[in-house]
Amino acid sequence: HGTSEINEHGHLEIGGVDTVTLAKDYGTPLYIYDVALIRERARSFKQAFEKMGVRAQVAYASKAFSSIAMFQLVAEEGLSLDVVSGGELYTAIASGFPSSRIHLHGNNKSYHELKMALDHEVGCIVVDNFYEIELLKGLSTQYKRKIPVLLRVTPGVEAHTHDYITTGQEDSKFGFGLLNGQIEQAIETILNIEGIHLLGIHCHIGSQIFDTAGFVLAAERVFEKIKEWKESYSFIPEVVNLGGGFGIRYTEDDEPLPATYYVEQIVEAVKKHVNEMGINMPEIWIEPGRSLVGDAGTTLYTVGSKKTVPNIREYVAIDGGMSDNIRPALYQAKYEAVLANRVTEKHDKEVSIAGKCCESGDMLIWDLPLPEVKAEDILAVFCTGAYGYSMANNYNRIPRPAVVFVENGEAQLVVKRESFEDLIVNDLPLKTKITQK
Ligand code: LLP
Repeated sequence: HGTSEINEHGHLEIGGVDTVTLAKDYGTPLYIYDVALIRERARSFKQAFEKMGVRAQVAYASKAFSSIAMFQLVAEEGLSLDVVSGGELYTAIASGFPSSRIHLHGNNKSYHELKMALDHEVGCIVVDNFYEIELLKGLSTQYKRKIPVLLRVTPGVEAHTHDYITTGQEDSKFGFGLLNGQIEQAIETILNIEGIHLLGIHCHIGSQIFDTAGFVLAAERVFEKIKEWKESYSFIPEVVNLGGGFGIRYTEDDEPLPATYYVEQIVEAVKKHVNEMGINMPEIWIEPGRSLVGDAGTTLYTVGSKKTVPNIREYVAIDGGMSDNIRPALYQAKYEAVLANRVTEKHDKEVSIAGKCCESGDMLIWDLPLPEVKAEDILAVFCTGAYGYSMANNYNRIPRPAVVFVENGEAQLVVKRESFEDLIVNDLPLKTKITQK
């Protein structure tokens, strides 16, 4: 996995740093990010576009993992940033991220979120619905520059990992229907608003997708419409954003394509349509989240109690669980793991890894091959970089873990571990009755 190796102590090493030492120094559970791998993924997306000679923006979908340091890394790599809430936007601004490369998403942006984005002159607002158009129309009079927007469409292509469901009238809470006239109504409305500039179109078909057919199909649908809009409104998008969703390998059952391949196929499909229509190639934007950070993240846990159910299975409990990785409980997501302190030993005993939350569904991995496990062993779960920390929660009042970046043999704490004090910081005591004497 990633740049992980085994060092002379038989320990798992990531980014040149011994993970057993990390567990000692920072405690567990601990998220570790392999910075070199994030850089490599970022660069391969960018280079794929450069190779195709296409103007592009690769926007990191920050919902996968956001923090000040992460945003600074993303800025350093020259990517753009997709944020979907006031909180993500606030973090981006606080990190010093160039606001012209921030795109604001969301299916229910508030007036205040929109205003915040406009005050900071973000690169664009991805408009989702008619209510938002009204809010923006009202706001637009307060600003000198025209507000750059993309309109989000639901292309009627829905990816369920391997296969695609295509429906005429897509049943989704996001965006304007592409095939039912909604998008035309949105375009007409926007084109008539003085203070808004319609930059282009956005669509996103799903997440953890393993082939290119869905992206190509979505691009085709969008460009068929663009052909019509060129005639009816003389509107030709300067930008077409095809979203994120590129799959990664969690276990050996997953067979993702290299990032470059998705980009090539998408660009080929777009080029074909653009040439047919005789228009300029729009900028192509994408929004990968998982594929930039997913396999760069590893979570370290300390093993605690065990329970054997005779003739059935052995449960091994770790010091985290659904509070730091809700994906197994929520999506039956699968992960691979090793004992970080004894990687070279045979992993030939099957155990099931239980979280520490008070819920039977808090099982991190079923039937995982490991050596004979004992308390204090360090379990390293791979590919937890996307939607791990970002979906972490305080269920059972478990503090959220720390996050460490590793690169070139050095470790750096980038998110502190939550303390018990942090957990009660917003709690207020019951009012005492002043009548009592
Ligand atoms: N763009 C839009 C508009 C999105 O809705 C998403 C993800 C992305 C980009 C990034 O998709 P990615 O490249 O990361 O697949 N919590 C779930 C995933 C939810 C994805 C939501 N939208 C999980 O843990 O699998």
